[in-house]
Amino acid sequence: MMRFSNKTALVTGAVGGIGSAIVRALVAEGASVGMVDTNAVAGQALGAELTAAGHKVFYVSADVGQFAECEAAVSAIKTKLGTIDILVNNVGISPKQNGKALKVWEMPPQEWDTVMSVNLNSAFYMTRLVTPDMIQKRDGRIINMSSVAGKAYCDIVAAHYAATKAALIGATRHWAADLGEYNITVNGLAPGRISTPLLKMVSQETNDAVAQVTALKRLGTPEEVADACVFFASDQARFVTGQILDVAGGWLMT
Ligand SMILES: NC(=O)c1ccc[n+]([C@@H]2O[C@H](COP(=O)([O-])OP(=O)(O)OC[C@H]3O[C@@H](n4cnc5c(N)ncnc54)[C@H](O)[C@@H]3O)[C@@H](O)[C@H]2O)c1
Repeated sequence: MMRFSNKTALVTGAVGGIGSAIVRALVAEGASVGMVDTNAVAGQALGAELTAAGHKVFYVSADVGQFAECEAAVSAIKTKLGTIDILVNNVGISPKQNGKALKVWEMPPQEWDTVMSVNLNSAFYMTRLVTPDMIQKRDGRIINMSSVAGKAYCDIVAAHYAATKAALIGATRHWAADLGEYNITVNGLAPGRISTPLLKMVSQETNDAVAQVTALKRLGTPEEVADACVFFASDQARFVTGQILDVAGGWLMT
């Protein structure tokens, strides 16, 4: 029995390392998935591949840091696949310069603002847009992609990234409280170091060093994050809300 038959999901940053693993895990359980990303070439390719495999997916190009683009994307996905039952606010960027996180006195205000918009505002925009339908249905699942860097100091990332990931933890608790009476759960994932394109922005030595201080002595895979996302999206997690689950192999345990 597939867990998400007759469910429609929306995933942001859907063609990235973790996003595409989440999309694959959701369609494998029968969900229809609206995929939102800025990478149109990879988005169309993933859409074509999954459609050919018999899955119901729809790719929309949008910069989720802009409210109007989120509005257009949600509207297009609703028309094509129906109202959203599962929202995965997965998108995230972690800009660096030559593999190094910029210090506060070096940070261009424009870069700070972009990270706020893409990592944090997008989650609010999407949640704001899909919750009226979820409230009406008295059913919904929202999963926010935080990071262990939002819970503990981690010198690999810059303050803008850590600030947005910490903010998502606060928002997760508030949205869980706001939406609980409508049978909508809101939870967050805090991945550790996961092998995706995002990781290639820092040196191999840095990633090897993280593996060494991780309890399980290795980096994680996108599929391991997707498994935890499927749990939060599923009926098995129906009495779990406002929680942040580390998927970090025991790195930066808090
Ligand atoms: N990889 C890790 O180790 C790790 C650790 C902790 C948290 N995370 C979080 O997991 C999430 C996914 O990360 P990933 O490693 O898969 O990254 P990734 O770089 O592989 O994928 C990010 C995706 O987001 C898309 N994107 C970027 N800006 C966008 C925008 N403005 N609008 C729409 N789409 C946009 C990119 O095109 C890309 O497909 C992020 O929130 C990230 O912060 C990752």
